[in-house]
Amino acid sequence: MRVPAKINLQLAVGPRRADGYHDLVTVFHALSLFDEISVAPAAADRVTVTGEGATSVPADGDNLALRAVAALRAAVEDAEAGPVHVTIAKRIPVAAGLAGGSADAAAALVACNELWGTGLSQQELCAVGAEIGSDVAFAVLGGTAVGRGRGERLSPALVPANQYHWVLAFADGHLSTPEVYAALDRLRADQAVASPDLDAELMGALRAGDPGRVGRALSNDLQPAALALFPALRKTLTAGREFGALGALVSGSGPTCAFLARSAQRALDLAVSLSGTGVCRSVLTASGPVPGATISSR
Ligand code: C5P
Repeated sequence: MRVPAKINLQLAVGPRRADGYHDLVTVFHALSLFDEISVAPAAADRVTVTGEGATSVPADGDNLALRAVAALRAAVEDAEAGPVHVTIAKRIPVAAGLAGGSADAAAALVACNELWGTGLSQQELCAVGAEIGSDVAFAVLGGTAVGRGRGERLSPALVPANQYHWVLAFADGHLSTPEVYAALDRLRADQAVASPDLDAELMGALRAGDPGRVGRALSNDLQPAALALFPALRKTLTAGREFGALGALVSGSGPTCAFLARSAQRALDLAVSLSGTGVCRSVLTASGPVPGATISSR
């Protein structure tokens, strides 16, 4: 399987709910930065993780891919859902705001559905995925999609198939998603927080396929909280804007920063400029949207 990273073109965060989560309206966008996953029958469920940040990924039952395997097995009770060895080759950095863990869970779901011949629909797999994490359902679906609720209630964005060219700047450090949400709650302590709304300007820009407008409309309510916890990101965002990015924002809960460029060549130029400034650990170009978890070989 290969499964993509995501960024959020809009991340509007409502008040904290009684269950600790926040109601969201978000526009997910899957990028051409992939983890590779395989599953094979084994004596007992286990996982092997290699690649980018592998040592900080749990290799026990806490691993999101193994939790997804267990959740799918529970959902298909009477099927032949034997133990599996999950192999994950990571390229999506861990705890970077790119939903890499959710991506691995999504890939494990799609892979086991195939291996076990359980025949769940994409929608059913998304429902199982939503129990594992708020971003898992999107990693099954991919493309560009509007997420509501915790982010798990999805509808594909009805937009033309334009490709957008991105630069991702990886930070020297991690951010914990719950800590970023908690920091946002503290920043908002004295404010009344409105219910989140889909940004009509962003959707109009996506429908028009106009990267300049999309760049100007990018927004992330978690960004002030991520910047408060990781002030160095301010410099990264400023540098990207100065080098001509059409838009710049922290991806999800960060600390990865995403920059939109007008073309693949501009993205490459921007990546070269950014990597020369020392404002991030490394940079990468990627394009989107791309499909969700996909079987790449048998
Ligand atoms: O669902 P997931 O496990 O990815 O979420 C990680 C954490 O992010 C949650 O435990 C919660 O603290 C925060 N979160 C939130 N509201 C959301 C999604 C995530 O508060 N809609």
